[in-house]
Amino acid sequence: MHQLNLNNYKQEIADLYTRRSDKYDNSDWHWRIANRLVEYGQVDTGQKILDIATGTGHCAIAAAKLVGSSGKVIGIDIAPGMIAQAQKKANILGLNNLEFLLADAENIDFPANHFERIFCASAFIWMSDLVKSLLLWRKFLKPGGILGIQAFAETAFVGGVITQNILKKYGISYLMSQPTGTVEKCQNLLQKASFELIEIKVEKDGNYISLESAKKMWAGISHPAPGQYPHPLSKLSIEELNQAKLEFENELKSLQTDQGIWNDITTFYIYGRKPKV
Ligand SMILES: C[S@@+](CC[C@H](N)C(=O)[O-])C[C@H]1O[C@@H](n2cnc3c(N)ncnc32)[C@H](O)[C@@H]1O
Repeated sequence: MHQLNLNNYKQEIADLYTRRSDKYDNSDWHWRIANRLVEYGQVDTGQKILDIATGTGHCAIAAAKLVGSSGKVIGIDIAPGMIAQAQKKANILGLNNLEFLLADAENIDFPANHFERIFCASAFIWMSDLVKSLLLWRKFLKPGGILGIQAFAETAFVGGVITQNILKKYGISYLMSQPTGTVEKCQNLLQKASFELIEIKVEKDGNYISLESAKKMWAGISHPAPGQYPHPLSKLSIEELNQAKLEFENELKSLQTDQGIWNDITTFYIYGRKPKV
């Protein structure tokens, strides 16, 4: 596999996901969401499909099963570990209409007007420039082709939301899902990139989690911050970081109920069409 020439932000993301790649499929949570993105995406036999930030290949594999032997699916990702897992799964399934490539989604080159569908699940907020990415991906879609993106509401993931509120008091803006966090924001992004027939399905979801699991959602500085580099927490001193973490844990404790802490996972399935002419 060839090496990518990544900037520090992207290298940190690639390293994070390569470290996680062995265990990424242990829960079926991402698989479920990615499958739904493809399911709503009107995939047909014979289509050419690109799965951006494919990870362990959830969307790509779902799509490859639908397009059949006359179709073709390409999955790209910057994390070699994730690509290796995806390839292993495709080999086991004997899918030979599927190819995985190590590539940066913001720096890809495919023929213009080539794919009928482009998907991106649980990864859009990692892009450094959202509108520029959409415009680039749009170029590779055939006229009339559909882009499908899955993203989370800004209310999703209790740990992230509490982290954001605490950090605000320290003058830190920690974005996480905010850039795509409302239906209006998603609509605006796709409009700015000249997509039409924009449709956003909102699915309310969530579960109760333990205090211990919620505490693990603290935005540690060792975990890259989606869309933000250098890491916003690097502006805080060690003392401020410790104090902010304490406030975060106290806030979580106040949310505890007999069932645990409610963890919202409201999900958006966002679709837009490249105009036919
Ligand atoms: C949460 S995982 C989602 C994987 C998969 N789409 C899914 O639904 O399970 C995020 C993925 O985005 C990838 N990623 C982040 N930035 C990327 C970029 N600029 N180009 C390609 N892949 C990227 C990561 O390496 C990681 O595999």
